[in-house]
Amino acid sequence: MIIRQGEPILLGFGAAGRDPEVHPDRPDSFDPTRPDKEHLSFGYGPHFCLGAPLARLEAEVALDGLFGAYPGSVLDPASPAPTRLESVIVSGPSELWIVPTPAAV
Ligand code: HEM
Repeated sequence: MIIRQGEPILLGFGAAGRDPEVHPDRPDSFDPTRPDKEHLSFGYGPHFCLGAPLARLEAEVALDGLFGAYPGSVLDPASPAPTRLESVIVSGPSELWIVPTPAAV
């Protein structure tokens, strides 16, 4: 592919996180326990996301709050199959239903 001078391009940062050369075992799996957690979700270089620390903090507060109060939560087996977000920028389910469970059973 040739990118000509001045042509706009849209990078799929999410695809970089699925590089089989970086994650040869299971590139398409979301595995927060994998040792190499490098990713480009917040971009790279001079335009690296200014809100990354806030986004990380928000996720930490929300997930700590949820799983602190409901540590036994599981995906709701009765929920419909999740639909995907309609976006070329971000990828993921539009919603995930869980069964909030106070303690592991
Ligand atoms: C999970 C949440 C977020 C993700 C995945 C994300 C992702 C990104 C990515 C990939 C870029 C780089 C775009 C590029 O290179 O053109 C970016 C830039 C940026 N983000 Fe975020 N972002 C998130 C949250 C936020 C929040 C919460 C704020 C502000 C409160 C924010 C503010 C910005 C700004 C101002 C830029 C532009 C930086 C620049 O061009 O120098 N982002 N973000």
